[in-house]
Amino acid sequence: MQRLIIANWKMQLTVSQAVHVALMLRHSRLPRRSRLVLCPSATAIGAVSRVLHGSPIALGGQDLSPSLKGPYTGDVSARDLKAYGCQYVIVGHSDRRALGETDAQVNAKVKTALGARLTPVLCIGERWADRKAGRAVRVVQQQLRSALERVSPAQRRNVLVTYEPVWAISPGGPIAPAEAFRMARVIWRTLGGRSQPLIYGGSVVQRNAASFLDGVHFRGGLVGQASLRARSLVALL
Ligand code: PGA
Repeated sequence: MQRLIIANWKMQLTVSQAVHVALMLRHSRLPRRSRLVLCPSATAIGAVSRVLHGSPIALGGQDLSPSLKGPYTGDVSARDLKAYGCQYVIVGHSDRRALGETDAQVNAKVKTALGARLTPVLCIGERWADRKAGRAVRVVQQQLRSALERVSPAQRRNVLVTYEPVWAISPGGPIAPAEAFRMARVIWRTLGGRSQPLIYGGSVVQRNAASFLDGVHFRGGLVGQASLRARSLVALL
């Protein structure tokens, strides 16, 4: 099965740095067994899209508005993501949730993405305080259920559910793979079956990628820090 590596560049690169990394990746020999998705910041999507044109590297947004059009200053429309050739969009990242994004907004974004034929990379995951208090499973289940509310079973299959424990995002350390697998089974139970491919995120680097992406629980990784340089991303792939 093809592994999916989703590079979340957050707001870490300038437009010219993003173009530079995308160019390096475009001219690198990438293994066919992995599919790479680059998610640049909104201001860099146009430029990176031009670099990737005609290459097997896919493009994704980091967030989207729940609305397609309207008076929403600063928001990014699914229509524009599509126009730039994006196939994916990250939804509900903990960076956005920390700024106040609610479960209801995440749900609306998932539906808008699906309606626009963008694959939502739906991030769910507990904070350290949740884990310490023994409510990690409850938090993850609650986020998942709300994010997929009124999403049909057929549409759910197009959602890339991404387990990303917030405390494991760098500079935090990664969770033990066995713990991540345990949560993958919780997610499947909540979804009502194991057919859904899952993604893991949180301090994925070359050294630990194989232990998370075992091909049974997780089909891919959402990668932040290790995706900012072409060399470390190619090594990870
Ligand atoms: P990280 O970030 O790989 O640097 O931990 C992942 C993410 O926040 O999506």
